[in-house]
Amino acid sequence: MTDAATLLVETTPEQTDAWWKSAVVYQVYPRSFADSNGDGIGDLPGILHHVDYLDELGIDVVWLSPIYASPHADNGYDISDYQAIDPSYGTLDDFDRLVAELHRRGMKIVMDLVVNHTSDEHPWFIESASGPSSPKRDWYWWRAPRPGQLGGDRGAEPTNWESFFSGPTWEFDKSSREYYLHLFDRKQPDLNWENPEVRTAIYSMMRWWLDRGVDGFRMDVINLISKDPALPDGEVQSPSGLGNGFPHFSYGPRIHEFLHEMHVEVFGSRGGDFVTVGEMPGATVEQARLYTDPVRQELDMVFQFEHVGIDQGATKWQHVPFDLLTLKRSFMRWQDGLAESGWNSLYWNNHDQPRIVSRFGNDGRYWSESARLLAAVLHLQRGTPFVYQGEELGMTNVPFASHDDLRDIESLNYVSEALRDPDVTADSTLANIRRVGRDNARTPMQWSAADNAGFSTGTPWIDTNANYITINAASQRGIAGSVFEFYRSLIQLRHDEPAVAHGDFRMLAPDNPSVFAFTRTAGTTQLLVIANFADAPTDLENVEEMDLESWSGSELLLANYAPTAADMLLRPWEVRILRRYCL
Ligand code: NOJ
Repeated sequence: MTDAATLLVETTPEQTDAWWKSAVVYQVYPRSFADSNGDGIGDLPGILHHVDYLDELGIDVVWLSPIYASPHADNGYDISDYQAIDPSYGTLDDFDRLVAELHRRGMKIVMDLVVNHTSDEHPWFIESASGPSSPKRDWYWWRAPRPGQLGGDRGAEPTNWESFFSGPTWEFDKSSREYYLHLFDRKQPDLNWENPEVRTAIYSMMRWWLDRGVDGFRMDVINLISKDPALPDGEVQSPSGLGNGFPHFSYGPRIHEFLHEMHVEVFGSRGGDFVTVGEMPGATVEQARLYTDPVRQELDMVFQFEHVGIDQGATKWQHVPFDLLTLKRSFMRWQDGLAESGWNSLYWNNHDQPRIVSRFGNDGRYWSESARLLAAVLHLQRGTPFVYQGEELGMTNVPFASHDDLRDIESLNYVSEALRDPDVTADSTLANIRRVGRDNARTPMQWSAADNAGFSTGTPWIDTNANYITINAASQRGIAGSVFEFYRSLIQLRHDEPAVAHGDFRMLAPDNPSVFAFTRTAGTTQLLVIANFADAPTDLENVEEMDLESWSGSELLLANYAPTAADMLLRPWEVRILRRYCL
């Protein structure tokens, strides 16, 4: 057993104390989780119905993607009222019931906080758009057309920035003849955080949710809230011909100030067991260390994007083949970089990412083995793991048959923008979307082999993945060797074995192209994870720097194959987790 005293000597109090360091978070995408009333859209009573499922899995925290009032241009990431539940999801009473039921079972709840932008249907924006003399004009980024231009034509925008959702980041308003900024869709205008009234309004809304019982926030693209007020043009990039504004809004001059102010204003005098995680595209290790250094009082952890960018080129639609060495180097950099201060979040999936078993695993012959291997190498790292709904069942990407099957605004905007180029074919855009489109993650949760995967008795807002007949919760719960039971064991292990949450991380055989191996050490306890990222067996005798002999006789904690006498041969996509005690 780990000696608790040793652990305390080796780690600082902040590191051992924070409850979320040994917690596992589960992300619910409410629209696709469970529909209680047959309208084809998931809802809060649907989630309530499955609270025992979450409890059985063993998770500690539920993160809800946005459930606020919204026109749903971006499935709720476009909020028109921060203090109301969208009627398609239910009522505030339903929400209070959900909080109570989660809390009753010892689980916490984290809300999605989308405050880089609102919906263009939010009263703040409607007021702001009413004219240049509106008291809320400065709550958003309004600018005149480029000097010498009247506005409205391509090229007249105040900056050349390209939107995350394709096309320019500026929308022209004919009545005032000014543009407003939207880093995402034109229906998602960016708030101007330079204005203190904006910040005050947001902090007060956050406190309102805390008063309602929520335990923290996942903060949407929170590293984009501080922009360089000079709004300089970006370097022109192909194929769009638009500019890359990212350097001017992704780590703006006041970002640390805003996050610290938010921390003080919202959580400052409360004490309590809150958790915050900031979604931060483009964040570097050095930045993340600052954001998550407890002494600075900004955030508890960040979602970085490096490891989910390794198979992408300049844009997400450009494909780079998966390379295990690149993945290992990335993880190693983050594990080492946040070892002394700060904290990692660990994730493969969310509502924006394709399904991991289709992406870095083998969703055909080795579907179950690779789903479990991927889970193990993530959950055994140092950091807080996030499970996205259906990941615990090994849900896969979707073979969308046509553009009509798509719902995601990012994909739809991409298709219409890409097809402006006569050399791009509709088929090639569909192939890209099958590989990385966000709808892969958004098809209904696969509860059972019943109609619509048991998600809804009506017509789902997006079609189910046809493989729900075989991949579903009912066929995995309680079944030894299933992906679900493997996740359950990993979560249990994190709760039971302090080395999983707190141990030091050391990568082994970093240059081996198919084996991912590392140790975790806390006091006298040492864990070893060895994983074979390949369709073929790997003989560990040939892997240098592993010193496997010294592990003979150690305890096999978890594996995705039954043990054999051939200890040194890893079968396709085999993973083993071992434990030993060093005196
Ligand atoms: C990141 C969210 O995860 C994504 O779903 C959304 O489209 C953008 N931010 C804009 O809110």
